[in-house]
Amino acid sequence: MFEGKHIVVGITGGIAAYKAAELVSQLRQRGADVHCIMTEHAAQLVSPITFGELSGNDVTVNMFANISHWDVQHIALARLADLFVIAPATANIIGKAACGIADDMLSTTLMATKAPVLFVPAMNTNMYENPIVQRNIRTLREAGYTVMEPESGHLACNTSGKGRFPKTEAILSEIEKALFGQHLLRGKKVIVSAGGTKENIDPVRYIGNRSSGKMGYAIARAAAMEDADVTLVSCTEELPVPEGVRVRYVQNAREMKQAMDALFDACDVAVMAAAVSDYRTKNESPRKIKKEDHDALTIQLELNPDILYGLGQKKQHQFLVGFAAETNDVIEHGKEKLERKNLDMLVANDVSQAGAGFNVSTNIASLLYRDHTMEQFPIMTKEELGRVIIRKIAERL
Ligand code: CTP
Repeated sequence: MFEGKHIVVGITGGIAAYKAAELVSQLRQRGADVHCIMTEHAAQLVSPITFGELSGNDVTVNMFANISHWDVQHIALARLADLFVIAPATANIIGKAACGIADDMLSTTLMATKAPVLFVPAMNTNMYENPIVQRNIRTLREAGYTVMEPESGHLACNTSGKGRFPKTEAILSEIEKALFGQHLLRGKKVIVSAGGTKENIDPVRYIGNRSSGKMGYAIARAAAMEDADVTLVSCTEELPVPEGVRVRYVQNAREMKQAMDALFDACDVAVMAAAVSDYRTKNESPRKIKKEDHDALTIQLELNPDILYGLGQKKQHQFLVGFAAETNDVIEHGKEKLERKNLDMLVANDVSQAGAGFNVSTNIASLLYRDHTMEQFPIMTKEELGRVIIRKIAERL
């Protein structure tokens, strides 16, 4: 994920310094070339050896020690960095950066870099809420730095409140955004449906399908990476919710329709990636059906509403995207669906091909557009296809 990227991690003297070890390890596991700079205080809390081992590179603490080459070291790291992450960021480093103070290796390198910078504050709640710290954070944001919000919860000082170091996954997601995001959907509201609906037969059985929800989740994640305000309407609780994405869980087609209809008016982009059951049981049994009562069992089905068709009917400014899973004449069926459902884009997959369709992590897709143009893509992961779909939507908004 981060292959070929040089990430400088600045570790300052907060108790959460030990948590930065996990972050450094994860960055390296994801292919990044990680260089750590520790402040003198951080080095009192966690040994630089830990960060050296985990990053596989020398750790810099003191400006005048460990000079292993003749480059001016703070300038060399400042130039090398594709991204700077200060984690944990104490009130002190936030204050110094906001005021332009450069008096040690970290603050000097930070001042010398042109790379994007991500601060991950972690401190006691009272310190975090101090108006001077808040003013400094505003100053940094105004200057173009990204400052993450700390989490709320138990703090090292044995109190509870805002100031906790965020989870590694949340920081990794911000790093991915800082490295690859282009703010393509800033200010846009995106809704995405995902997973397979479940239509009850009785309280313990249902009619479902093989959809894993991965495609919809990948689209939601890609939209969040591009700064969209994203809501997922999901039929599956099994997948981790992407960072920064709101989720509404639903079970069946009628609940999904209700949720999508309610969110549609205010959205800019709606993507129906869910596999919606075309039928539901006509008479759902309130009690578990017992086999001794039936030698043979007939379950009558009735049609569900077509959610996407309904959205197409009431569409105004929204960009509407549908999916088509086909086994033959993919493009022909896709074009017909795009017209009939009044879509702006249709993602057509031939589910008869290996590597496409339900419950696999790859997909083979063609994107059909309202203006009768189309693009065909080779096999790729659903994560990659999610990013392609979001980029193509952004180009056409
Ligand atoms: N869809 C929907 N509501 C339904 C059925 C499908 O919103 N009751 C949406 C799916 O989320 C998908 C698109 O419609 O985006 C295509 O679904 P598909 O089942 O392939 O197409 P249908 O129009 O139902 O046609 P058919 O089953 O005959 O291929």
